[in-house]
Amino acid sequence: MKFKNSCVSDCSLIQLLKIHNRAGNITAINELVDVPFEIKRVYYLYDVPGGEERGGHAHKRLHQLIIAASGSFDIILDDGKQKKTFHLNRPYFGLSVLPGIWREINNFSSGSICLVLASELYSSEDYVRDYSIFKELKNER
Ligand code: TYD
Repeated sequence: MKFKNSCVSDCSLIQLLKIHNRAGNITAINELVDVPFEIKRVYYLYDVPGGEERGGHAHKRLHQLIIAASGSFDIILDDGKQKKTFHLNRPYFGLSVLPGIWREINNFSSGSICLVLASELYSSEDYVRDYSIFKELKNER
């Protein structure tokens, strides 16, 4: 989906399969089965100090699935018109975040781990870090 056309309403929570076991559970994420993109990169945020915020940008091409692998946090998505907050607190739910969506992540619980599956390798060129430029790009005809 193009940067300017993506909407918050197209970003949804995906429930992943939880394989129950008395000795602990497993959740697996299969490329193009459980996520709608090829997984080129995996990264995770951890040791986030209390009160810190992450994100504060949009991506031009990157599609992500964001998971609270441990603990909890809030993700605020913004398409320039509509905003929506998702509270992630289960390791078997992933939030699909499309390109062209501004995101902030805050309210990290102590020891939380934010796991991100990404459709592209890291590229600084893919970031839009200025909110007014983001708004201009969303309003382009
Ligand atoms: P950034 O994506 O801005 O972090 P967040 O959205 O969580 O606040 O990345 C922070 C820094 O880490 C930035 O200098 C780029 C670097 N970085 C990489 O080198 N590779 C990566 O895969 C990621 C996600 C970030």
